[in-house]
Amino acid sequence: MTDILNIHDLTVSMTNGEQRFTVLQHVDLCIKRGEIRAIVGESGCGKSTLANSIIGFLPAGAAVESGSVRLADTELLSCTGEEMRMIRAERIGVVFQDPFSALDPVCTVRQLFRAILTVRRRYSRAEITEKASAALHGAGIKDPGTILTRYPHELSGGLRQRVLIAMALVNEPDLLIADEPTTALDVTIQKEILTLLRRLARERGLSVLFITHSLDVAAEIADTISVFYGGRIAEEGKISDIFAYPIHPYTQALLKTIPSLSFGKEERRLMPIEGELFSFLDQHAGCPFAPRCPYARDICYQTCPDTKAIGDHTYTCIMENQL
Ligand SMILES: Nc1ncnc2c1ncn2[C@@H]1O[C@H](COP(=O)(O)OP(=O)(O)O)[C@@H](O)[C@H]1O
Ligand code: SF4
Ligand SMILES: [Mg+2]
Repeated sequence: MTDILNIHDLTVSMTNGEQRFTVLQHVDLCIKRGEIRAIVGESGCGKSTLANSIIGFLPAGAAVESGSVRLADTELLSCTGEEMRMIRAERIGVVFQDPFSALDPVCTVRQLFRAILTVRRRYSRAEITEKASAALHGAGIKDPGTILTRYPHELSGGLRQRVLIAMALVNEPDLLIADEPTTALDVTIQKEILTLLRRLARERGLSVLFITHSLDVAAEIADTISVFYGGRIAEEGKISDIFAYPIHPYTQALLKTIPSLSFGKEERRLMPIEGELFSFLDQHAGCPFAPRCPYARDICYQTCPDTKAIGDHTYTCIMENQL
């Protein structure tokens, strides 16, 4: 399968006004055509910064220190602002956590579709209605004609997220980035949206980068997972391998936070991860998980371990795998 997204050695820094700190450290990530990849990690570990680096939405003061982000044959880090605007409209669909703030409140749904459909070419009113209605229908909306006349505030959270998904896909992008798209929704709607996203991705052979803080949400939608900690990839592999043979202590700890998940025949108790959340202001030269890791040794604080691979299952830890 060909690569749609290929990130190599991406390092991004930010500032809080007083101090510059590195948020993404030497990130390598590759997503193939049709692959659904989940990025999983606790809040504040750099997941949205990764998404924003891809779509050219880094906040003021952020700097790409090194690396490459390729969408098929296009190097996104060397695109101009205008080129990125086109790419966001046509080649990368984006769905954010909060569908309300992502939709311009003064525009009707039809006006929102018009704006995204006419980035590069002109469409008649009838063509816009036709394309928008088909996209809304595809996103599970039964009466697209009515929804097109509505403003975002007139729609429920679940409907707004469906509208956002329809807009993200209307120009048939190569890649969909969904940053915690179900976190603000209640559990039933969350399940519906996950099922919808997975169906749409499969029907279209779409590549998806799906960001979540929850391993069980990742398991519902993704083929592969990258477990993120402190701006680095801790472990990566097929969902089945990560759940059956987690090697990195952070992945093992994350798995224990999933309620009532059965591993083999044994039920595990819900266990919070010990220690303080990672802070980018407190970095040391070694493994970012060291202050919370039950297996940490002195060496873990001195150098960051190399990434090891067992087939397509990779992990960044000094531990030898026990497989
Ligand atoms: N606009 C910003 N200005 C300065 N620092 C930021 C900004 N946004 C995020 N950060 C820093 O980057 C870190 C990672 O944030 P983020 O990528 O949003 O994490 P996540 O999406 O995993 O919750 C945060 O802990 C914070 O220190
Ligand atoms: S490298 Fe050391 S501190 Fe980091 S996860 Fe592995 S054992 Fe723990
Ligand atoms: Mg985030």
